[in-house]
Parts: sequence; C-alpha cells; structure tokens
Amino acid sequence: MRLQSLSKPLLLLAATAIFSGAGHAQEHSYTPSDIEAGRGLYQANCLGCHGNTGSEVEGANLASGRFRRASSDEELIALVRTGIPGTLMIPRPQLSYGDLRSIVAFLRTMQTNGGVAGNDERDVAIGNPGRGEELFFGKAGCSECHGVGGGGSRLYADLASIGGQRSPAALEDAMLDPQKDVRIGQRFYQVTDNNGTVTQGLLLNQDTHSVQLLNTDEKLQSFLKQDLSEFKFIPTPMPSVLDVLSATEVADLVAYMISLKGE
Ligand code: HEC
Ligand code: HEC
Repeated sequence: MRLQSLSKPLLLLAATAIFSGAGHAQEHSYTPSDIEAGRGLYQANCLGCHGNTGSEVEGANLASGRFRRASSDEELIALVRTGIPGTLMIPRPQLSYGDLRSIVAFLRTMQTNGGVAGNDERDVAIGNPGRGEELFFGKAGCSECHGVGGGGSRLYADLASIGGQRSPAALEDAMLDPQKDVRIGQRFYQVTDNNGTVTQGLLLNQDTHSVQLLNTDEKLQSFLKQDLSEFKFIPTPMPSVLDVLSATEVADLVAYMISLKGE
C-alpha cells in the first residue's frame, strides 16, 4: 500500500526529468569557429561510421539533436570521450576537452550547418514548388530513381527531408554537377571477379577483406576481395540536368526540394 502511493509521484518525477532534459539540450551558443573546428574533427574521427549527415549509424542519428544517452553538452562530451562499452563507439582519450567541445558544437548545429559537406550559401534562383513537383514526377524523371517518403529505388536517396539537410545552392549543385559532392552512403562501386564478371551497385560497406554492394537488382551481394581482379568507385549514375532543363525549371525543382522537410 505504501509503496504504491509512493510510486506515482516518483514516476512523474522521472517523466519530468526526461522532458526537461530535452528542453535544456542546447546550453551554449556556438561560434562559427567552434563549428568549423568541430567539422574538421568530426571528419577525421567520426565520419567513417556516422557519415556525412550523422545518420549512418542506426538508432543514433547525430543530427537529430536528441541523444539516447546524453542531453546536456557536458554529458555528450563525456559520452564521446568514454565511448559506449561493447559497441564500435570506442573511447577517445586523445581528444582534448576543447576538441570535444568543438565536436559538440558541430553536432548541435548539424541540422542546419550542412553536415560535413558544409552549406554552400550562394544565392540561387528559387522558383515555384508546385511546378517543381510536377517536373520531379514528370518530365525531369527524378522519381524514376528517387522516392519522396517512399516510392523510389533503394539504390537512391529518398528525398523526403532533403530540404532540411541541404542549402538551396547545394540542391542546385546536386542537379547541375552530380559528380561534385557525392555523399558517403550514396557512392556507386564496381567489382570484377576472377572470371571477368562485372557487378555494379551501391557501396554498403567494405573492409580489408570484403565488399558489400546493393546490386542494380537491389539485391545484397558480398564479395571477398581475394576473389576479385578489380574493385573501384564509379561515377554516380545521376544524370546532370545542365543543358537538359531550363534555368526556370531548375529553380522550380530547387523550390520543390526546399519544401521537403520530412514531416
Ligand atoms: C567505429 C565506428 C564509430 C566511430 C568512429 C564513432 N562512432 Fe559514435 N557510435 C557508433 C555506434 C555503433 C554507436 C551506437 C552504439 C549503440 O547504441 O549500440 C555510436 C553512438 C554514438 C553516440 C550516441 C548516440 C545516442 O543517441 O546516445 C554519439 C553521441 C556518438 N556516437 C558520437 C560520435 C562522435 C562525436 C564520434 C567521433 C569523435 C563518433 N561517434 C565516432 C560508432 C562509431
Ligand atoms: C538514374 C537515377 C537518378 C535520377 C534520374 C536522378 N537522380 Fe538524383 N541522385 C542519384 C544518385 C545515384 C545520387 C547520389 C550520388 C550523387 O550525389 O550524385 C543522387 C543524388 C541526388 C541529390 C543529393 C542527395 C543528398 O543526399 O545530398 C539530390 C538533391 C538529387 N539527387 C536530386 C535529383 C533531382 C531533382 C532529379 C531530377 C532532375 C534527380 N536527382 C534525378 C540518382 C538519380
């Protein structure tokens, strides 16, 4: 009886603690130089697993602003320094407190700072999103590869939240010069086995001994490097719209993609 009457307020307290944790998540304002330093450190120490946009490790989206195991900046710093026992997230005692603060500044602003690629802030023409949507699913052929909240091929990025991830200039660049800035997780690869059979696909993973691809039939294939005569990155299959679409049409597509914020 006594225990029961105690347990309710305790539960309430626990719930309040969780919610206020989220509210106090960002304690500092971060200077551009902190964020830039953090970008470089992230690139050198974290990118390999967490990816250009911080979303490559399942269940740990670093750009979301919410962490399962930390809410304050100090907790985040401690978490990155000590790692998570029993996972690939190993301790990093070599990073100084200042380094860790910069990394946290970078993580905290990742949703808007363009991730590792950074945001190209050039002014670009932004047209009509409705016309852009028509082009996307029609004559421009974008939806032959990309889904928007589903509907596309697993080989190509779903663009449902692209508007929250990239600046208008980066979106324009992605269409005009697709080879320029291919994000990790979106790179295409080709292997040739010792019999001369060639397989192309999206590179999912590779290490010293093996390569895993999602092949063009969207099937997972794994290869041992010792069985391969050649393995290499290949150019992105995304076609450039330069000389194919007018400047107005490009601006309409940019406008449509900016409107895709994921929810
Ligand atoms: C070798 C791969 C690897 C590297 C490199 C790596 N991480 Fe991780 N990280 C992981 C994995 C895997 C997890 C998820 C562990 C789990 O939940 O099982 C994780 C989890 C995290 C979390 C916890 C997220 C949460 O919601 O609690 C943070 C924060 C994090 N990593 C930040 C970093 C930072 C910052 C760096 C660079 C200094 C880094 N990681 C480098 C693999 C890595
Ligand atoms: C043949 C398949 C294909 C078609 C058609 C295609 N794309 Fe892509 N797209 C890709 C691939 C592959 C990538 C990843 C590599 C890269 O960045 O070039 C990509 C990347 C992108 C990105 C960057 C995504 C990111 O996460 O940063 C954007 C934006 C984009 N495409 C928009 C478009 C638009 C708009 C169209 C139509 C004009 C289009 N794509 C047509 C295959 C395609």
